[in-house]
Amino acid sequence: RFVKIANNDGERVLQFLRRFFFMDEPLNIAVGLLDEPGSTCSELEQYCIDSIPDGVSFMAVNSSGEVIGVCLNGVDVRGKSNDEDSKNFECRNPRFGKILGLLQNVNKQSDVFGQFPEVDRMLEVRILSVDDAYRGQGIAKALIEKTRLEGEKMGIPLMRVDCTSHFSAKAVARLGFHCVYTLQYADYLDKEGQRVFHPPPPHTCCKTFKYYVRHFSLSS
Ligand code: ACO
Repeated sequence: RFVKIANNDGERVLQFLRRFFFMDEPLNIAVGLLDEPGSTCSELEQYCIDSIPDGVSFMAVNSSGEVIGVCLNGVDVRGKSNDEDSKNFECRNPRFGKILGLLQNVNKQSDVFGQFPEVDRMLEVRILSVDDAYRGQGIAKALIEKTRLEGEKMGIPLMRVDCTSHFSAKAVARLGFHCVYTLQYADYLDKEGQRVFHPPPPHTCCKTFKYYVRHFSLSS
């Protein structure tokens, strides 16, 4: 089952993400986000929780009622991204700050809003995670598709996803999203010219994908 995440699902969602996303998303691995199993990153927790009130996030639940997949999404409003950027620089956790820095860079370079001057709201997939016992069965694709349809229902024609994982990129490409920007991790360097991220294979780059529906019908 795929269900919309409600405001009071926050702790349930975090419990799931602490077991999977926090431990196994390629950039979280690369920065060693969690020192040891069972520890957490309060800044990433807040980043996750902040998207829920937008009311456009979904989870997959198995027949026993357990969460087996999560897709946290938010609505980006044109002109509000500068506030987000300054928040990123204030991140107190240097490891998570590195990841926010990369996402900010990718956001700027991909400039998805800039390609669509007529659009003022965009749906953004921020966190995508599937229980490792259920991977490769199309759950991520189904969560993204749910999100896309929800955006259409809300009259939001544009959607973006920054894929830090080879597999999330594969999933959205399959769904017809278009890659608008690629940042090779090998080319992302710090001020001293040193490479910042060494994620495990097969994750070599972060790709930004967009989906745009020029003509869509409002069903609500
Ligand atoms: N090996 C080979 N191919 C794989 C694997 C694997 N381990 N896992 C998924 N795939 C392929 C699938 O076959 C499919 O390709 P296809 O359409 O050509 O058949 C594609 O990747 C997507 O498959 P799904 O089954 O829809 O994806 P899944 O439910 O397995 O979830 C996800 C993918 C969310 C990336 C999962 O691997 C995961 O949770 N990874 C750790 C966290 C992470 O990296 N999240 C994404 C970061 S980007 C972001 O959050 C926006």
